[in-house]
Amino acid sequence: MKRIGILTGGGDCPGLNAVIRAAVRTLVRDYGLEVVGIQLGFEGLLTRAIVPLTLETIRGILPKGGTLLRTTNRGNPFEYPVPGSPAGSNICEDRSQQVVENIHDLGIDGIIAIGGDGTLKIAQRLADMGIPMVAVPKTIDNDLAATDYTFGFHTAVAVATDAVDRLHSTAESHDRVMILEVMGRNAGWIALYSGIAGGADIILIPEMPYHPEAIVSMVRDRQAEGAKFDIMVVAEGAKRVGGEEAYLDKASRRLGGIAYQVAADIQQHIDLEIRVTVLGHVQRGGSPIAFDRILASRFGKAAGDLVATKQFGRMVAVRADEIISVPIADAVSRPKYVDPQGQMVQTARSLGISFGDGA
Ligand code: F6P
Repeated sequence: MKRIGILTGGGDCPGLNAVIRAAVRTLVRDYGLEVVGIQLGFEGLLTRAIVPLTLETIRGILPKGGTLLRTTNRGNPFEYPVPGSPAGSNICEDRSQQVVENIHDLGIDGIIAIGGDGTLKIAQRLADMGIPMVAVPKTIDNDLAATDYTFGFHTAVAVATDAVDRLHSTAESHDRVMILEVMGRNAGWIALYSGIAGGADIILIPEMPYHPEAIVSMVRDRQAEGAKFDIMVVAEGAKRVGGEEAYLDKASRRLGGIAYQVAADIQQHIDLEIRVTVLGHVQRGGSPIAFDRILASRFGKAAGDLVATKQFGRMVAVRADEIISVPIADAVSRPKYVDPQGQMVQTARSLGISFGDGA
């Protein structure tokens, strides 16, 4: 084995460059292997967009956000848009065999795929076709059961917590209800962690649909106790009891805007002004915090070891602070959601935080 390829797929996430750097260092320094970067995820295996990854080309990337190799949410070789087909027509073809041929032609003996749910599913299918594949999980949402944490999550939580802190002072000055909408897809982890860290009064998460009346009574109870403002952190996937998620674009299932619905649900029942902040991609950009740099570096080293020792079809993970590996198939089949009866929710309740569930 001589040449290893690394790619990043799906949405970006703070810490991707730290994984790339650690994997390259491990493969070059410990195993004397050549490493190439595959640009734009699996698409780069169709277009043969390959760049050398050497100790020189990765210098200085550890603290940088984004990904040196660029990434895309499109480019699934199993459902690749047919070139020249009318825009929006969604006509796709299976180009996976081309990918397999290109991998052989390019002399790539093993691939490290760093990505979220979609990327891991593609990696698994290519592994099933005999491609020597190792995976590294990535998502700010922290919604994979196979690993205690994904890198990028704690950075997103830190950004969201900073936003909660900033909203506190302006809420207090104006006697307002401030609603902060954070990312997380259908998992409430970012909202739960940043809400606790920022001292929110109300946290709404997808796993615990909210009753508008419960939010209103929390606001009134706080007013009765003398508090003239409220801080609410809402996960983008939250929904009202019996309601639906809010989508920016239903066709592509892009979540967003639930905070405005919450505001509309409660405004007429309270006498405080409401303001909404949708934090968006700020949570995904910029430099990873130290925790994520370390986790990403540990994942990159472990992925380098797996591929160099030919332990293919596996994904790195962390459990009880130990880096382990699991079959990629396990990781793609089990999402991780907040347990409404779990310790984190119980802790939040003891701190006086309401989940708008009437409990
Ligand atoms: O999965 C990561 C994530 O940032 C989600 O939290 C969010 O819903 C989604 O990606 C946004 O995707 P896009 O960058 O395509 O808008």
